[in-house]
Amino acid sequence: AITRQYLFDVQTTSVTRLCSTKSIVTVNGQYPGPTLFAREGDHVEVTVVNHSPYNMSIHWHGIRQLLSGWADGPSYITQCPIQPGGSYVYRFAITGQRGTLWWHAHISWLRATVHGPMVILPPAGVGYPFPAPHEEVPIMFGEWWNNDTEAVISQALQTGGGPNISDAYTLNGLPGPLYNCSAQDTFKLKVKPGKTYMLRLINAALNDELFFSIANHTLTVVDVDALYVKPFTVDTLIIAPGQTSNVLLTAKPTYPGASYYMLARPYTTTQGTFDNTTVAGVLEYDDPCPTTAAGKIVPIFSPTLPQINDTNAVSNFTAKLRSLASAGYPAAVPQQVDHRFFFTVGLGTHPCAVNGTCQGPNGSRFAASINNVSFVLPATALLQSHFAGKSKGVYASNFPYYPLNPFNYTGTPPNNTNVMNGTKVLVLPYGANVELVMQDTSILGAESHPLHLHGFNFFVVGQGFGNFDPINDPAKFNLYDPVERNTVGVPAGGWVAIRFHADNPGVWFMHCHLEVHMSWGLKMAWLVLDGSRPDQKLPPPPLDLPKC
Ligand code: C2O
Repeated sequence: AITRQYLFDVQTTSVTRLCSTKSIVTVNGQYPGPTLFAREGDHVEVTVVNHSPYNMSIHWHGIRQLLSGWADGPSYITQCPIQPGGSYVYRFAITGQRGTLWWHAHISWLRATVHGPMVILPPAGVGYPFPAPHEEVPIMFGEWWNNDTEAVISQALQTGGGPNISDAYTLNGLPGPLYNCSAQDTFKLKVKPGKTYMLRLINAALNDELFFSIANHTLTVVDVDALYVKPFTVDTLIIAPGQTSNVLLTAKPTYPGASYYMLARPYTTTQGTFDNTTVAGVLEYDDPCPTTAAGKIVPIFSPTLPQINDTNAVSNFTAKLRSLASAGYPAAVPQQVDHRFFFTVGLGTHPCAVNGTCQGPNGSRFAASINNVSFVLPATALLQSHFAGKSKGVYASNFPYYPLNPFNYTGTPPNNTNVMNGTKVLVLPYGANVELVMQDTSILGAESHPLHLHGFNFFVVGQGFGNFDPINDPAKFNLYDPVERNTVGVPAGGWVAIRFHADNPGVWFMHCHLEVHMSWGLKMAWLVLDGSRPDQKLPPPPLDLPKC
């Protein structure tokens, strides 16, 4: 194992898309940002220098951060932000993961432009459990706003309404030819017939789950969230913000010299407004094509994507995901559970005073919550105050284990509107084996929420539609080869059950990876206590940890 060193210079950079130029925050002037390469077992050291006018912190999405919680990065959870002119060195090891992850800003909406891929290769001398691809290509989806994204979110929070939707989706930073004034900004992947390519897919969009498909080609899923899965082949896959996946694509032209669109567009069940547009890249064969006197014939084929609200397509896809669960890559699913929790996740409403003022953004009724707690970020980092033994006035340790007033979660009309603001954590002893059921509530319409847990991978042991049935549903849990990941979609109008082993002391954020829902409070934090052995304790903070 070696130490890989990177320098991230956070700065403002002028970028043009859709014929509109604006100044955005980037790392090293690149959009998307630089790719970080490492092998499983390596140490990584990233020096982040903040030359932007914003407070900044970087999260290494999906990295376990085993005993290195000070490097996790979410602002006001594990660290205070790096102020303009400041710097911080993130030091962590890559343990038990191989595949694709990513890094992104973890404060306000700055991750819109501050993000990049993390390519994690197996240890030297260790191959993939599938034939080695000819080439590996990161494919990162994002969202582009012609306006400044910090202005978009602050305006939304001030008015208590929904933020403006994005102007385009992007593929490796490029919107592609289906948008006006964008044909010159198209990602092209040149392939050779007969060769296999591994696409390292990352959904870095702020607010949309995406369907992805390539015309006339199938995709074989081999890895999700940097963990191998039993390979399966599909025409279309679904990827939620925060999720990553490695897929194999074998180049076989169905028409010599042809080009094929690779398309992505949203999956959503919301009734509100969303960016209903399509990003396109092109798969181009560089084989000797038939030429005529009139020149090359290069037709472009287009895939058919599922309907925008096709929840069946989503659940059919997710049902196929299984851990490899082989001798070399066993699935360490906790078979016994000592802590069970039931969380409602969803959008809801605050109670309002007789004079009409409520506790939502700018006195509105609106809120997003987990177990009716709409999380409020503290003014200092939770992990710092916990470590210093100064939690008073920063957070309370009484996050509810289950909803205090159970109701018909998927029924209509809504009968639970009792959301309260709070900064509450749920405390776990070291080594707890946790089972958590997350239930979508359809108070303002059923919606899928990609929930991301920091500091752990978890096993997705069950999922279903309607209200979770605590008597009959657990009997159907898969405790043998459930998929292991760090971000899971709570199905629209349904529930998902996960298990994890709390072997990582620290404060770990859990939140909806739809940025707008996170801004409205759909987030909470786990506090995992130290164990008794020295190798079960979080070391003291690094000396350069930023101060609030
Ligand atoms: Cu990818 Cu808390 O984030």
